Amino acid sequence: MSFSQSRGFENAARRITALADGLNCKCAGEPRPHSRSIATSCRAVLLPRFGGPEALVLRDNVEVPDLKPNEVLVRARAVSINPLDTRMRSGYGRSIFEPLLPLILGRDISGEVAAVGASVRSLTVGQEVFGALHPTAVRGTYTDYAILSEDELTQKPESITHEEASVIPFAALTAWRALKSTARISEGQRVLVIGGGGAVGFAAIQLAMANGCRVVTTCGSQSVDRALATGAEQAVDYTAKDIELAIKGKFDAVLDTIGGPETERIGINFLKRGGHYMTLQGEAASLADRYGLAVGLPAATAMLLKKQFQYRYSHGIEYFWTYMRADSEGLVQIRRLSEAGRLHIPVDKTFPITQVREAHEAKERKQIPGKVVLELD
Ligand SMILES: NC(=O)c1ccc[n+]([C@@H]2O[C@H](COP(=O)([O-])OP(=O)(O)OC[C@H]3O[C@@H](n4cnc5c(N)ncnc54)[C@H](OP(=O)(O)O)[C@@H]3O)[C@@H](O)[C@H]2O)c1
Repeated sequence: MSFSQSRGFENAARRITALADGLNCKCAGEPRPHSRSIATSCRAVLLPRFGGPEALVLRDNVEVPDLKPNEVLVRARAVSINPLDTRMRSGYGRSIFEPLLPLILGRDISGEVAAVGASVRSLTVGQEVFGALHPTAVRGTYTDYAILSEDELTQKPESITHEEASVIPFAALTAWRALKSTARISEGQRVLVIGGGGAVGFAAIQLAMANGCRVVTTCGSQSVDRALATGAEQAVDYTAKDIELAIKGKFDAVLDTIGGPETERIGINFLKRGGHYMTLQGEAASLADRYGLAVGLPAATAMLLKKQFQYRYSHGIEYFWTYMRADSEGLVQIRRLSEAGRLHIPVDKTFPITQVREAHEAKERKQIPGKVVLELD
């Protein structure tokens, strides 16, 4: 658990230095392994400095780096906006990312394989794929040609469009990481999803249902019917009801997508002994931003260990900070569920990539509650 989790923070910081190469790349005219004809430079939305939506700059001639053996060049058709994108744009994670500016934001992608590295076996040029980058990737997906590793991609579900596919991987893999990899949910267990109206929460409800769990969620009034339509046994409108009174019984796992002190307190109290509480609001990046990497990351590790020890002692439960992580097996299962119509995340609005600033602005001002997609021609 915790030791590997804390090592993960430090590894993440180390990884990004290598990933930063992707933005200062060389490439014009160089042949690529296993490639059909592809561009050597392309459009990309660069983030040269932290700031508001106006900090995003669409450039035409951003070089496309060479592929490493395990990497895949993806011609992007649709990429979605995640809360992490707007947070990173504003400076979240600056302790890690500031020395690596300019960044390309974006985690999710749906598109076609344009070229593959020498050791890639599971994907071929021309195949339609979807997937998501790790939260610390420096060269993101807001570009015509994104680079992901083989294990971050799989075949796109045939039954859905690129737009629909692009909103799934990052959210669903985060939910997968919490419920399948961490809590190891199984048939008959009770799962509470705090924040089932959001993309991760809605994916988590559907993953838990697909695993034969009984699911209760909290969400806004506009999301209640959608949550119940998945088969959730109860969806409590947190804006109108006292969720501590409305929800009965104990749970084997609680996924808290909100992760404030109040939802943490409530979530922990709803767990059976031996249950798992997972919050998406781990404090590693915010502590590193406040105190610098050298102090912030060990402080985050200490805070996590302390909470784990305390809750184990006081409530007999396991406490985790969940971070999205690539999981090829998980992504294949997510694709299968999507193809079977058992996992979907609705798209609220689509913008052309040329309107990326407007899209970020609308999302940030909460003018669009659901998922926003950027389309690349
Ligand atoms: N740690 C990681 O690796 C990781 C990965 C992905 C996401 N995240 C974080 O997890 C959070 C959720 O991500 P997301 O992609 O699902 O965001 P999202 O789609 O924007 O969903 C957020 C939703 O939370 C709901 N909400 C707000 N306050 C609530 C409350 N008190 N109780 C219940 N629901 C509430 C709202 O839904 P209603 O419409 O129902 O009110 C809102 O739409 C974000 O903070 C994101 O940064 C972390």
